[in-house]
Amino acid sequence: MTQTIRRIAITTGGGDAPGLNAVIRAVVSSAANRSWECVGIRDGFNGILQPDNYPQGGTLLLTRDQVRGISHLGGTILGTTNKGNPFSYPTRQSDGSVIETDRSDELLAWFKREGIDALVSVGGDGSLTIANALHRKGLRVVGVPKTIDNDLDKTFTTFGFDTAVSFATECLDRLHSTAQSHQRVMVVEVMGRYAGWIALHAGISGGAHAILIPEIGFDLDKVAEKIRQRDTQGRQYSLVVVAEGAKSRDGQRALQAPAKAGHAERLGGIGEQVAEALGRLTGKEARTVVLGHLLRGGSPTTFDRLAALRFGTAAVRALDEGLSGVMVALAHPNVNYVSLEEVAGRMKAVPHDSDTLQTGRDLGVCFGD
Ligand code: F6P
Repeated sequence: MTQTIRRIAITTGGGDAPGLNAVIRAVVSSAANRSWECVGIRDGFNGILQPDNYPQGGTLLLTRDQVRGISHLGGTILGTTNKGNPFSYPTRQSDGSVIETDRSDELLAWFKREGIDALVSVGGDGSLTIANALHRKGLRVVGVPKTIDNDLDKTFTTFGFDTAVSFATECLDRLHSTAQSHQRVMVVEVMGRYAGWIALHAGISGGAHAILIPEIGFDLDKVAEKIRQRDTQGRQYSLVVVAEGAKSRDGQRALQAPAKAGHAERLGGIGEQVAEALGRLTGKEARTVVLGHLLRGGSPTTFDRLAALRFGTAAVRALDEGLSGVMVALAHPNVNYVSLEEVAGRMKAVPHDSDTLQTGRDLGVCFGD
């Protein structure tokens, strides 16, 4: 028989995404409706694992009052981190070096000590892999899929993605006129890690002429040909969207920083490389715009806000139904539950037979292949 729930905890982990606060509000309100208490953990699990860094407390009791009117706000009132995996926690040694240690038992002991019956873990691939590992160690856990990258498997979409795509599309709309006025090539670099969802969706919606995504190794001669073709047709400007994880057929990914203890590698810089090469190949002036963290900010779109509220309430329903080790997912048009085991450590890339990709091809977009 599943143990009755009286107290749950919620944590937000990984890069922030618009909609996190809406999830928090939904979880706290649904829990309160069941007379459950909800404890918020600050900055992933850092609030528990580094309590000394939090003079005001690494955790806080979340009441309805604390989450009123926050659904439309970007960021997360709990804070977040992508450097706090409890199974490989970055720990500074006396000589200044950093090693990774497994502190998951300490975390589980905290849940027991505080009388917390279950955890709602809101995050992307990294956080949900951690959630699955905690579930395997006996914690009751439900995951909520968050990421602007939309690279989580088994859900139609993640919250945060629509806001990022909408903003990137608006930026492309704005860049058309300046690119046209100056007859330039504008290269727009967008986030997305190793998946090209943001680049693909924003690129097509925003009328880009070439879109380079990690799933398709690119040949810049093909892109240059497309730009020259447009020139000869009297359209002397071009917009190229490049995903931060894109690479040429035989190339390396552009990195800002390599992986180190507790940190994944940091992507970025491919836009500048592509612009430099396209300038050289076409003789045109090419400029780069890196949208970067702008894609993670601002208010969630209605779609993301609603998805976040639906996910948060569904996570509490899942716990109430005695489920654990599951992630709330969007199986359009409904929300369902999928096993965390099926999600952990898997990435959803853009499939080569995606109709959205085909839409781009039919519209004449060059994908560099
Ligand atoms: O996963 C979300 C994301 O914004 C990626 O698109 C990007 O590669 C990464 O996070 C950037 O993380 P950070 O803010 O740590 O540089």
